[in-house]
Amino acid sequence: MKLTKMAVVVAGLAALVWFAGTPDDAQAQKTKGKSRPAATKYLMRGIVRPNCAGLGKLLKEGPADDEAWDTVACHAACLNELSFALMDDGRCPDGVWAKAATGALRDGTVALLAAVEAKDADAANAAFKTVTSSCAACHKAHKK
Ligand code: HEC
Repeated sequence: MKLTKMAVVVAGLAALVWFAGTPDDAQAQKTKGKSRPAATKYLMRGIVRPNCAGLGKLLKEGPADDEAWDTVACHAACLNELSFALMDDGRCPDGVWAKAATGALRDGTVALLAAVEAKDADAANAAFKTVTSSCAACHKAHKK
């Protein structure tokens, strides 16, 4: 009887430690992947934010010439690649993250690249809205 009680207490403590450990692991996982050195905040600050800001500026007025459209494509391509990097190296902690990265960010940038091919400013703006919806969706759940 005494042994059984002790086993229950030990199991309870083990469960507590396990639960306490889980959020820390998930936190570490999303701020940096498992083996590659780039912190998520640097991918955001160095790649995601500048490319997103570049798109916002160009699409607000509507790209004026071929060079501007080419720069829209450049920004979209970089953000599309990030949609893969954000899923790599064990960085993705859950379905919210995965949906934001592979849904809104990836699909939005693919649609944006198609809009560049067609030089369709309305389609480009619609696709950019999809892209920026990924920021809000992922940040709401995962940015402190
Ligand atoms: C799949 C998840 C995800 C998506 C999509 C995402 N972010 Fe982030 N972002 C994060 C996380 C997580 C952090 C916090 C990282 C940290 O502080 O360790 C962050 C932080 C940032 C930061 C702060 C970086 C710093 O210097 O501390 C900026 C700026 C940012 N994101 C911009 C964006 C923009 C703009 C978009 C959309 C185009 C976007 N992010 C999409 C997950 C995401």
